[in-house]
Amino acid sequence: MNIRLFKPSIGEEELEMIREAFDRSWIGLGPMVEEFEKQWAEFIGCKIAIGLNSCTAALHLALRTFNFPEGKKVILPSLTFSATASAILYNRLIPVFVDSDPVTLGISLEDLERKHDSDCVAVIPVHYAGHPVPMDKLTSWAKGKKLRIIEDCAHTAGGIYQGKALGTWGDIGCFSFEEKKLMTTGDGGMLVSDDPELLKDIKAMRWVGIDKDNWKTAQAYTSANKDAMHWFYEINLLGYKYNMNDLAASIGLAQLKKLPEMNKRRSEIIRKYLDDIKKINGIKPLLPFEPEKYVYQMFGIRTEKRDELMIYLKSKGIATGCHYTPLSIQPLFKKWGNNCPFIEQEANKFITLPLHADLTKEVVDYIIQKISEFNKY
Ligand SMILES: Cc1ncc(COP(=O)(O)O)c(C=O)c1O
Repeated sequence: MNIRLFKPSIGEEELEMIREAFDRSWIGLGPMVEEFEKQWAEFIGCKIAIGLNSCTAALHLALRTFNFPEGKKVILPSLTFSATASAILYNRLIPVFVDSDPVTLGISLEDLERKHDSDCVAVIPVHYAGHPVPMDKLTSWAKGKKLRIIEDCAHTAGGIYQGKALGTWGDIGCFSFEEKKLMTTGDGGMLVSDDPELLKDIKAMRWVGIDKDNWKTAQAYTSANKDAMHWFYEINLLGYKYNMNDLAASIGLAQLKKLPEMNKRRSEIIRKYLDDIKKINGIKPLLPFEPEKYVYQMFGIRTEKRDELMIYLKSKGIATGCHYTPLSIQPLFKKWGNNCPFIEQEANKFITLPLHADLTKEVVDYIIQKISEFNKY
């Protein structure tokens, strides 16, 4: 047995799309990126989507677009991946780490209130594992404090909270298509918003500051419009090399078609885990999963015997993980001194278990069986 923790579900559909990109011989930033952006905006139900090479890039540019003065503060949960905080540092801003809600593990609204001060300019809620932050409460609080909201949607793709898609509650939503996520493009990200004015510079920022897509320039060159100054472009701002490319977008288009089915499959697996785990003493689900309502990128448990169980499962060929060591105790970030006492202790109980759309019932049975065997020692 060699059971992976995460695994992309990819096959002939993706290969066919890649083949088409090869046939066009255009694999950089091109028409497939534009098509994927269009379809993603429709899928999420937002006005504009911009394809990037990662969610890290999306978080960086999302904050960049507000031009906050250096040294202002941005609030984020301590329980997240490093990229959420790195994006704050890239923008020369200061991270304010907030503890987790003990039940949902999302950002604690009480600690948020406590740590907020007049230097705070934005908040980045993270829908941890895919479980939604109560965005109704968060947005009304943040608007009262005049904070910008950037949703880190790396763990969700198609999740809906109170009838509104995650990613559309704040000013900007950032998605990830890295290989472990709900759908993948290898690496990739998408930035979404309902405010095109807010995103007006993002296309230049993702393409080294150039205000024109070169595949459109190439098209204009061969069109009847012979007098167009196709070589002219301007650089008005500092850009990055953050664009998505057509190869990634081609995979993304195939994955997006399969996403509802893959999400359904994940929900069924989580339901099975939940039903089976109930029968095992000392093991609790990581959070109040509602797989019929939300979509989840991760499934996990809480146990007092974290290390021993992880080592035992490894000896049985089952990969596990721990998401995450809270950032407030990471050497790079701890100097900002935002204690998050609950999550800094509680995260020592977390085990992430295998979850991906190709996981079979038999394999989940095997995982559950090994967890209960361990429990009997
Ligand atoms: C919560 C969270 N935010 C951001 C990211 C960054 O995503 P990417 O790998 O697409 O840059 C990740 C990736 O794992 C993540 O888990």
